[in-house]
Amino acid sequence: MKVLVTGGAGFIGANFVRRTIATRPDTDVTVLDALTYAGNAASLPSDERVTLVKGDIADADTVDELVRTTDVVVHFAAESHNDNSLHDPWPFVQTNVIGTYTILEACRRHGVRLHHISTDEVYGDLELDDPAKFTPATPYNPSSPYSSTKASSDLLVRAWVRSFGLEATISNCSNNYGPFQHVEKFIPRQITNIIDGVRPKLYGAGLNVRDWIHVDDHNDAVWSIIDGGRIGETYLIGADGEVDNKTVVETILAEMGFEPDAYDHVSDRPGHDLRYAIDASRTRDELGWEPTYIDFASGLRATIAWYRDNEPWWRAQKHATELKYEQLGR
Ligand code: NAD
Ligand code: DAU
Repeated sequence: MKVLVTGGAGFIGANFVRRTIATRPDTDVTVLDALTYAGNAASLPSDERVTLVKGDIADADTVDELVRTTDVVVHFAAESHNDNSLHDPWPFVQTNVIGTYTILEACRRHGVRLHHISTDEVYGDLELDDPAKFTPATPYNPSSPYSSTKASSDLLVRAWVRSFGLEATISNCSNNYGPFQHVEKFIPRQITNIIDGVRPKLYGAGLNVRDWIHVDDHNDAVWSIIDGGRIGETYLIGADGEVDNKTVVETILAEMGFEPDAYDHVSDRPGHDLRYAIDASRTRDELGWEPTYIDFASGLRATIAWYRDNEPWWRAQKHATELKYEQLGR
């Protein structure tokens, strides 16, 4: 099988490529990635079955040529960071909406199967005490420029399935953690701050809840959908990993040998979503997928060890990232 992975040099995409190479000997991978600040060729495995093409998903000619010669497209490429979208929304519209449109048109032209990677943030947020979780039937209600462009891309995919018979599936996953995540994101930012002797930064009171899942569990679910998912369906991916941000920071500090209160509160993110929670029962029941990292603390411990052991991978990103945060006052 030939798979085209857009955004394969980013966090989740690179882990997807690594897992695919390790577990699917019959599959060759081409990565299409613009290598933005978030992409890193060094995250990819050195393997003759992996080819990296540097290019933009909104470049129709490049996309057409690559889609024409593949069996499946797995579409991870996106601008992915909420804080950046609040600062400058345009790249989010360009990549997440126009880029996805470009992928859809190429898949339609060549009759190629697409799996579109999306996020639980399209559903907005939940109250802390709401017994409900997000399901595939939850109405879309995105809050940020990032999540609204992801919601837009999902709607385009749905329309292409219905209007043009495109063979596509969508997955909406909760917050991922694990190796190769950019240091702008919450967990790696705090781990690398601590390594640098800087106190972790908690937005607002830190009561916001995220539903953490290990990146390998996400990617295994993606393969289950490609292998057995129903065309046109939406699958939610989550591992019942709800934890508030304050607890995450305290756990990281304790795991790294510091007092659990050795962090600072900083100004809150505007429009900050309060809580996400996924009901993944369709994905579990229909596809037999189950997460394997069910103990968040031990997954976090392994992630801390990875950042300690792989400083050359993240060091180059750290200074520019913290400069950006300094300008945002966070
Ligand atoms: P990331 O920011 O780490 O990686 C994004 C990758 O896309 C980078 O390699 C970047 O260079 C590439 N890219 C950006 N614009 C491009 C363009 N115009 N053309 C080609 N490549 C481009 O993101 P991530 O965290 O790995 O997220 C991957 C996907 O998963 C995104 O679609 C995101 O919305 C979704 N998602 C992420 C999470 C999470 O917790 N990180 C959870 C659910 C869903
Ligand atoms: O839910 C899935 C989404 O998860 C994905 O669609 C996004 O691509 C991904 O970035 C992530 O979005 P979040 O905004 O939830 O992730 P982030 O890592 O930026 O922040 C997680 C939480 O931690 C959030 O409540 C904000 C808070 N935070 C973040 C940073 C960077 C802090 O308290 N301090 C920080 O320094």
